[in-house]
Amino acid sequence: MEKISRTKIVDLLKREDFGAMVNVKGWVRTRRGSKQVSFVALNDGSTINNVQIVIDLANFDEEMLKQITTGACISVNGKMVESVGSGQKVELQAVEIEILGACDNTYPLQKKGHSLEFLREIAHLRPRTNTFGAVFRIRHHMAMAVHQFFHKKGFFYFHTPIITASDCEGAGQMFQVTTLNLYDLKKDEEGSIIYKDDFFGKQASLTVSGQLEGELAATALGAIYTFGPTFRAENSNTPRHLAEFWMIEPEVAFNDITDNMDLAEEFIKYCVQWALDNCMDDIKFLNDMFDKGLIERLHSVLGEDFVRLPYTEGIKILEQAVLDGRKFEFPIYWGVDLASEHERYLVEEHFKRPVILTDYPKEIKAFYMKQNEDGKTVRAMDVLFPKIGEIIGGSEREADYNKLVTRIEEMQIPMKDMWWYLDTRKFGTCPHAGFGLGFERLLLFVTGMANIRDVIPFPRTPDNAEF
Ligand code: 4AD
Ligand code: MG
Repeated sequence: MEKISRTKIVDLLKREDFGAMVNVKGWVRTRRGSKQVSFVALNDGSTINNVQIVIDLANFDEEMLKQITTGACISVNGKMVESVGSGQKVELQAVEIEILGACDNTYPLQKKGHSLEFLREIAHLRPRTNTFGAVFRIRHHMAMAVHQFFHKKGFFYFHTPIITASDCEGAGQMFQVTTLNLYDLKKDEEGSIIYKDDFFGKQASLTVSGQLEGELAATALGAIYTFGPTFRAENSNTPRHLAEFWMIEPEVAFNDITDNMDLAEEFIKYCVQWALDNCMDDIKFLNDMFDKGLIERLHSVLGEDFVRLPYTEGIKILEQAVLDGRKFEFPIYWGVDLASEHERYLVEEHFKRPVILTDYPKEIKAFYMKQNEDGKTVRAMDVLFPKIGEIIGGSEREADYNKLVTRIEEMQIPMKDMWWYLDTRKFGTCPHAGFGLGFERLLLFVTGMANIRDVIPFPRTPDNAEF
């Protein structure tokens, strides 16, 4: 076969120099036709769109032609011609064809229209479907949006550790990391495991958040963000929770809670705009296939100011809703941690736009949040989104050494593990604030997918670490 350098299908479909000879490589999506001619829809992952290959069967070897089946990988040299029937401007008149990888009829993606549940069971192959091709291309573009946004604003990308000895959120949901022999654990007289013989000389875990180390960086470099995997051993099998997810955590010196809300709103809107600007083919596909309101919802978020509301006011609205006959699964009262149904009520039914809820009761929030004068609430902020509920959690941080230590003691967090964090408040402390955006929750919003397992390539959830 003549060596012609490969053209990606995304580029080919934009060209108009009909008559040119090009090479494409990709996987056969469908093959149809007659005794004389075959039409192959070829996809190479560079775009949701296929290029149509027209094969005049008389010109090719019969044995080779038999191997052009759904799922097979082929290389085609062909002439670009104007297309009338393929839905694209361009199609290829095949001149030479090479089978790179045959694919027999045990290939699970023979027919279209598999359920998302089934596709999760073949997560190793699902990127080859239109749906997951679209989702994972959007995932890439959203990661680029994150870096562009912060880089342009002068934030530094700071790498926080994945293995850590501190529990940032204090929720006890950490996965332990150990090289100890679990079949032969050494214990002291009190029956406690002797961690000094473990790899790190102490008990270590996978991080639930890079925030604490992010604060060290923000109080030195001024404005930073992290973007990495985080791990939570929370045993909640919901469409919004993963045991391994990616989080973006900006942290900014001298920002207060209002600056923090401004940053969060600007950031999300930037990402949504980026998706509309860079992923329209894929978003259109998902809109038509799964969620007819997707594009409209993306536009509407851009056009409106997020509601900013203290938690206490939010509770009043929810209590009123209950009085008016609205039924919730979980009870509502001041002090309760809101369930997703409550968050979605505020966003989808009451305000009909995103809501930033602030000033939560200190008992339901982490130790590091700045305490308000009232002694009851902290300067927390959760950004609540339609269809998602909480998409961002953040706060202004407690900058006062004594107040922070008191809170750590009240919450019985082991102080000796916190010495390095407390040093930021000892040596030139400053007001600062930050938040965490769950990357997959953003992707749920941008793709319109309903289950978080369908926006990460290989989801990790309770009882599932396949692939
Ligand atoms: O609200 P969270 O727990 O906040 C923190 O971790 C802070 N340290 C962030 C900060 O201030 N720097 O988590 C932040 C976000 C949530 O709003 C949610 O979007 C996402 O992370 N998230 C999850 N996403 C998927 N699966 C899970 N199990 C998640 N837990 C939290
Ligand atoms: Mg939260």
